[in-house]
Amino acid sequence: MKINSIYNENCLDTMAKMPDDFVDMVITSPPYDDLRVYQGYHFDYEPIVKQLYRVLKPGGVVIWVVADRTVNGNETGTSFKQALFFKEVGFNLHDTMIYAKNNPIPSDCGKRYRQCFEYMFCFSKGQPKTFNPIMQDMASAKAFKSFRITKTGRNDLEHNHVAPSQRKVNNIFFYNVGTSSSKDKVAFQHPAIFPEQLAIDQISTWTEENDLVYDCFMGSGTTAKVAHQLNRKWIGSEISAEYIAIIEKRLAIYNQDNLFSANES
Ligand SMILES: C[S@@+](CC[C@H](N)C(=O)[O-])C[C@H]1O[C@@H](n2cnc3c(N)ncnc32)[C@H](O)[C@@H]1O
Repeated sequence: MKINSIYNENCLDTMAKMPDDFVDMVITSPPYDDLRVYQGYHFDYEPIVKQLYRVLKPGGVVIWVVADRTVNGNETGTSFKQALFFKEVGFNLHDTMIYAKNNPIPSDCGKRYRQCFEYMFCFSKGQPKTFNPIMQDMASAKAFKSFRITKTGRNDLEHNHVAPSQRKVNNIFFYNVGTSSSKDKVAFQHPAIFPEQLAIDQISTWTEENDLVYDCFMGSGTTAKVAHQLNRKWIGSEISAEYIAIIEKRLAIYNQDNLFSANES
């Protein structure tokens, strides 16, 4: 298969070309509940999830960014159905993370609070083989004494410990959406991109340099751009030729010599 390439086709056709245990990570955002009509293409998640399991290496992860539509006042719950199907196929539901929007698009939510997040499920094939957590500084790193409560009261232990000065960040990630989520104006010709920083955070967490990252719903090419910038290899599928044109223009800004479309030869 051609690496660092976009396949202008149904992702099932792309994955049919991949051997078993081929990619290190998948990061993607499927079309949700036909919320948007992507050039008239619809998507059936079950065969795609099965293929994702086959092509992912043991220890690889899928980051699946998804939300639900509300129909007649009732949320569809499609995200949950998909998550449970991933488990049925053999994936671990490793972490249900949240992608929270600092500046959600204003909408009339009726008798509901303002909708401001999407699920960012992390499914793994076995235990994740790579984890480079994002850390944050603690407010203060204090020395503290260990103690044990016994029947006779508190017994201080002999050793003093130093509290760690850093900790892993929480699993709710806040990002700006809209025009501040990428500098690439051309990307916004696509109706539903995810923030570049989201892709940066997730790809750096779950892969090492030169690992292979796949996005089965490439959209405007966010995954390809970020993978390239982080020195990861990548493959993408995008069914719409119109969106492929956006990806090509976007990647040409960064990667003129290296970009090629897999369908050309
Ligand atoms: C939510 S968008 C992805 C946006 C992307 N994460 C970004 O940042 O630009 C989903 C994309 O999946 C594409 N798509 C839908 N069904 C597909 C399929 N079966 N195979 C490949 N692409 C598909 C749509 O055309 C759409 O561009």
